[in-house]
Parts: sequence; structure tokens; C-alpha cells
Amino acid sequence: MCGIIGYIGGRNASQIVLGGLENLEYRGYDSVGMAVTDPARDGTDIRRAVGEVSELTEEYDIIALDGTTGIGHTRWATHGSVSEHNAHPHTCCTERVSIVHNGIIKNYEEIAERLESHEFSSETDSEVIAHFLGEQLRNGTSLHDAIQQFAVQAEGTYAVVAVDTETGELFGFKHGSPLAVGIGDDEYFIGSDVHAFGEHTQDVVFLEDNDYVILDLDGPAFHHTEDGPVEKEITTVDESAVGNGKGDYDHHMLKEIHEQPDALYRLQESLNRSQHEKVERFVELLQENNKVLFTAAGTSYHATLLGVYYLQKAGIEAQTLISSEFQNYERVDEDTLLIAVSQSGETRDTLDAIEYSQERGAEIASIVNMPHSAIQRESTVSLEIQAGKEVAVAATKTFSNTVLTLLHLAVAAGYDGQIGNISEHMRSVIQENEPRIQELAAELADEDDMYVIGRGSTYPVSREIALKLKEVPYIHAEGMMGGELKHGTLALIEDGTPVFALVPEEDDEIVSNVHEVEARGGNVIHISPYYGDFDIPEDRDAFPLYATTLGFLLSYHLGRERGCPIDKPRNLAKTVTVR
Ligand code: M6R
Repeated sequence: MCGIIGYIGGRNASQIVLGGLENLEYRGYDSVGMAVTDPARDGTDIRRAVGEVSELTEEYDIIALDGTTGIGHTRWATHGSVSEHNAHPHTCCTERVSIVHNGIIKNYEEIAERLESHEFSSETDSEVIAHFLGEQLRNGTSLHDAIQQFAVQAEGTYAVVAVDTETGELFGFKHGSPLAVGIGDDEYFIGSDVHAFGEHTQDVVFLEDNDYVILDLDGPAFHHTEDGPVEKEITTVDESAVGNGKGDYDHHMLKEIHEQPDALYRLQESLNRSQHEKVERFVELLQENNKVLFTAAGTSYHATLLGVYYLQKAGIEAQTLISSEFQNYERVDEDTLLIAVSQSGETRDTLDAIEYSQERGAEIASIVNMPHSAIQRESTVSLEIQAGKEVAVAATKTFSNTVLTLLHLAVAAGYDGQIGNISEHMRSVIQENEPRIQELAAELADEDDMYVIGRGSTYPVSREIALKLKEVPYIHAEGMMGGELKHGTLALIEDGTPVFALVPEEDDEIVSNVHEVEARGGNVIHISPYYGDFDIPEDRDAFPLYATTLGFLLSYHLGRERGCPIDKPRNLAKTVTVR
């Protein structure tokens, strides 16, 4: 994963890089670092620290670093431990080039062997990039040829931002990991995504694989490693997609849960108006293709389980598979529609499933939150869930908006669904139930194992709530089909074991599974309009959204009770750009 940023212009680079790193922190927060230089002087100042961006500012007077060109990195460790010497930037021992990298260079050891005169100082795969480029430039190779040579020799994925300390040029190149260039007034930015620099400019060029850019004060020069100079289109991105604040909330996660009523309303409006034609085209694709497959990861995968459920109600056979296993289980051909679902639109496993399907002639559609993302760019038609920027690593409002998009599609395809006033109902679900959820979190804070059971449309909800319970309060949780309990898991139910039962209808089949748990002394907590303590509207089709939201709130408040780092859970990152 990792977030990378670069800046060249007339302002203090350290301040801009620091701001960019804060905005990119959701991509990784194991360590952080930056390099600042200036065309007018020799050398580069490098500062690195283990931990979050705040560690860097606590250890060093970053803003005092002098220079108008800078690069920065926030790391999610893949190769090499979490330590200061493995933190980026990495510099060639000739000191000519400093780099920051997102991705994995698979054959880094092989490349390093060819650089025998170079001394390496980290255990990362990334360091080899700095030495490779430094060696090429020292030998008189042009920057263009050095980047081309790297593209020929490197295997794996990379988005690299680098600075040549001799010429003062900032440059970036990519293959398989995202990289975007921001065009300001006489200043230029480059980063993993628009959040890196969205507060400075919304005019963006998205690089494609094997594109590279060289930036100096005269502006960007775009090239392709095989095709030479290329013209790139400038896209103006929506400002609301790059906003970042926590407002009056203690955590982004809580703010994002509370944003759901507005986000759902905004989405409904757009699906009925600005995105209406795309919805129609999507439905045509659903009906034209023999086989409909979803693919996604994590929370987005749970949303696709609901997508399968809703489409089946519209008479459309569909299946879904977690994207990292897609190639092991799925067969696709020219009559297949692949629907990739992703908040970030950058998830590597999902992009791999797309590439695999494209090679076999499948049509690609997608549902994403991030406009202009790689997954959207690979799609014939792509619906945007309009949730606005989600900062907390735990996905919440984007799950709800994805599910509503899928429900809307199923209804457009013929399902006689009941959506109701979902936005206002969501508002009352949050307002009416949060105090009870807080009490429940206090009661359950010392529990280490929890179970969530559902059937039909609530099975995906059980999986999603269990994921949040793991991710935010670090509680071992299982989400499962109620009917499966008796086939094994019931053996784990003891006196007082918390079991959340998702009961959307009064005589739902799950009620008998609830009795099985109660008979073994389990502590059954109903999430239902009919049973238990919660106040939930009787909207059959929107129940999964309300129930999941109670699970989000519970995970959040349990996280607080247990003192967890809610927005940045250990070992995770929001955008997962590695396999
Ligand atoms: O950006 P995507 O929707 O493709 O991300 C997929 C998963 O990495 C993501 O949903 C993850 O599971 C969340 N952190 C869960 O809260």
C-alpha cells in the first residue's frame, strides 16, 4: 500500500509534503519520511520516523527544512521490519537520487546483485530503485533512458516519485500502482491519489501503466516508456471527494457513520437523475450477458453478497467471489459481465481479477466511490456511490451506499423491492439507538468472542458486522448463516456467549436458530424491528443497511471502551494496492 507524494514549486516543500502525508495516512502508518531539496543547493535533507506522521513532527522541526522540492512517504510494511532504516525515502549511495515507492519489486534481489558496488542500508525491496537510478545517471544515461531501463528490468508493481538532486527535477513513473499529477499555478504535485494534494489543486492527470512524468518549474512533461512523449488529459475532480476534516466528531469513523443519511440521499438523487442513463446501461449489460459475476474484497465483497441476493430477486443469476481467489475458481468468457466493486477503485486483487477477465473477453462494469480510479477507468460503465471521502480504515458509509446502489439496480432490473425513505429512516436508526448501543458496548467490552447470525439478506450483514468487530475493537467475531450453527459452531456457545441475531421479519426462520443458542445459555442480542431493544423501521429491503449500521456503531463504541486506535487499526491500511 503506502502513500507517496512529491511537490515542486515556489513554496516551502516540507509544509506541503507534510500536509499531503497527513491526507495519505490512511494508506499506511507504519513509518513516515520525507526528503526536501532545492535546485539552488546541493544535497537533500531527509527525515524519517517510525509510526504516524505526528511522530515525524514530534521528532523534528520539519517546517524549518529549507527547499522548494520535496517527496514524502507513509508506509505499510511489506518487505523489511517496521524500523527507521526501512522507512522511505531511500537514497542511492551516490546521493544523486532519492525515491519513495508504493508497490513491490519482486525481483529486487536480482537487480541488487547487478549493483555490486552499491551499499544497501535497508531490508526493503524499494531501496534498489534508488541505487538503480543513481547508477544509471552517474554513468551518463539520460533520465528518460534510466526510467525505460528500469521498466524493462523490474518485475512487480510500482508507483515511484523521485528527485534528482543534481538537476532538481522531480519525476514519477508507475506500473500497477496508482499515480496522479496535480497541476497548480506554477507549482506541481504528484501523489498516490488526489487526496495527496486535493487542497491545493483539483486539476489532475492520472498516469497509466508505463507512463512517466518529469516535473520542473516549466511544468510537467509526460512520456510513455515505449511510445515517447504523450499528451495527457487534465481532469478536474470534484472538491467534495477530497475533503478531509473530522468536524466535531472524535473520530472519522463516527463522523462517517453519521454522514450516512445525507450520503444515501445524495446517492438516491444521483441514481434517479445524473446517473440514470448509466443505470439503464448497467441493466442492459446485466440482461445481455449469460453470466454475471461480482468480484470485490473485504467490506465491498460483503456488499456484493447482497448484490447477488437482490439480483436473484430480479430474476438475474449472479455469483460473487473474493477478488484474491477469483482466478482460482472462476471461468470467464465473452459472454461474462464482471462487476468489480471497490470503495477506493484501486484494490490490487480486484484489478487483477479485472485484467484476468479482460484477457478472456469479458465486459467490465464497476461500482466505486472514487471517481477516476483505476477500476473505473477499466470499466465500460461505472456507477459512483457518491459517499464522499471515507478516511477511517473501517468502511462504513461506503458499504451502505454500495448496497443501496445494488438494490437500486435490482429494482431497475425488475425486482419489486421496497426501499422506503431510507435516508430519514437511517437518521432515526442512528439517533434512536446509539444510546442503547453505548450501554451495550460498556456491558460487552470485556468479551473476546462474538457471533453474528443471519439468513438470506442478513447473512452478508452478519459477515460485515463480524469484520468490523475484528477490525475496530479487535474482538474475535464470526458472521455466519444461522442454519450452519448446528453443524459445528454451536459447540462454542457457552453461558453468556454474545450472539447477535439478525431478525428482519417476525416469523423469520432465524428464530429457531435463536432458540438453539438460548437453549445453550448464549446471550442473544436481537437486531430486529420485532424483538429486543432496538428501534428499527419495518423496511424489508433496507433492513440490512439499518442492521449493519447498528453493528458499525457497536464496533465503534466497543473500540472506544477497549482503547483501540479506531481510525487506524493496527497492521491495516485503507487502500490495499498490493497482492
Ligand atoms: O477499496 P475497496 O473497497 O476495494 O477495499 C476493500 C477492502 O480492503 C476494504 O473493504 C476493507 O475490508 C475495509 N477496511 C473493511 O472495513
